[in-house]
Amino acid sequence: MSNVEQQPYTQPIGLDIGTSRIVVARTADKKYKYDAQLNAFLTLPYSKLAESLLQRENVFHEVQAGDLVVAGNDAQRFAEVFHTETRRPMQDGVLNPHEPHSLAVIRRIITRLAGRAAGEGQKAFFSVPAPTVDTRAENIAYHEASIGQILKDLGYDPTPIQEGLAVVFGELGASNYTGIGISCGSGLCNVCLAVLSVPVISFSVPKAGDFIDCHSAEVTGELATRMRVHKEHSFRLNGLTGDRVQNALTVYYQEMIVNLTESLRRQISATQRLPHLDQSIPLVLSGGTVMPKGFLEHFGEALRAHEFPVQLSEVRLSPDPLNSTARGALMAALC
Ligand SMILES: Nc1ncnc2c1ncn2[C@@H]1O[C@H](COP(=O)(O)OP(=O)(O)OP(=O)(O)O)[C@@H](O)[C@H]1O
Ligand SMILES: [Mg+2]
Repeated sequence: MSNVEQQPYTQPIGLDIGTSRIVVARTADKKYKYDAQLNAFLTLPYSKLAESLLQRENVFHEVQAGDLVVAGNDAQRFAEVFHTETRRPMQDGVLNPHEPHSLAVIRRIITRLAGRAAGEGQKAFFSVPAPTVDTRAENIAYHEASIGQILKDLGYDPTPIQEGLAVVFGELGASNYTGIGISCGSGLCNVCLAVLSVPVISFSVPKAGDFIDCHSAEVTGELATRMRVHKEHSFRLNGLTGDRVQNALTVYYQEMIVNLTESLRRQISATQRLPHLDQSIPLVLSGGTVMPKGFLEHFGEALRAHEFPVQLSEVRLSPDPLNSTARGALMAALC
């Protein structure tokens, strides 16, 4: 056993507070390190026996209002054992208003991932969504204030950063933080067009991973969780086949892509004071929903289907789509 004490981590942290996953990014030896937990939980009726079994198995849980609340990655494990769906503290990019446990669970998960600040003023940049046509700015303000307070209680100096801008910081250093960053997550797709790191257009659209899971579940009569597992493990976007699950996922994936590219076109065209861009700009796609094979090709086709209001130099995928937002938040904190 080593007797070298681990030094406390005093650098800034970056947090991706996502509808389905929470990720923390730290720096170590000029590299980025990530820790993640599912942003999910389930409750079991309290009994002393169940509690001692959870303790013995080292399961991430706590007792709340007479229930045993299992959170994070362990929630998924238990949901499979008990054949039930996990519950989510967040919905559509913000705290879920219909879930009484939401704030307590998210506090537990953030505390587990971030820990207490090592010193006063340690920075924590955390992602927040941009408004959608439907999400009221007030709901985002409540979400942002709640997450900020959790981080303050842990001793951090918190700063919100819109998710699309975090992607620009994480992926577009080579173009001086000029270009379009997009994160296709589970609740939302967040978009930011930035010029020299200044956000010019930010918005989000509500058709993302959960939309694909829910609608394909509806038309196939399956559970959304089953659709999600299939989508994450064996789905590729390569047209309609004889398989009904594959077909349903394809249809809703295509709808999501067309909705995103159309919104992008519309929002850029409607922006009156777009700075003069004398060069073409890059567009980068991140988030779990861009991961199936064929996504980039379909996205490119949808973009080329109609004229696009700015010249693009390249359209590419992030090399690390699940960690891009957390890394970008950290890079913004380090600037
Ligand atoms: N390999 C994969 N193939 C397809 N989809 C995937 C894959 N891995 C993850 N996903 C999907 O990506 C989504 C999660 O992505 P991500 O972690 O970027 O979202 P999030 O940040 O939690 O959500 P949001 O940004 O909307 O709040 C889920 O819908 C998940 O099913
Ligand atoms: Mg996200």
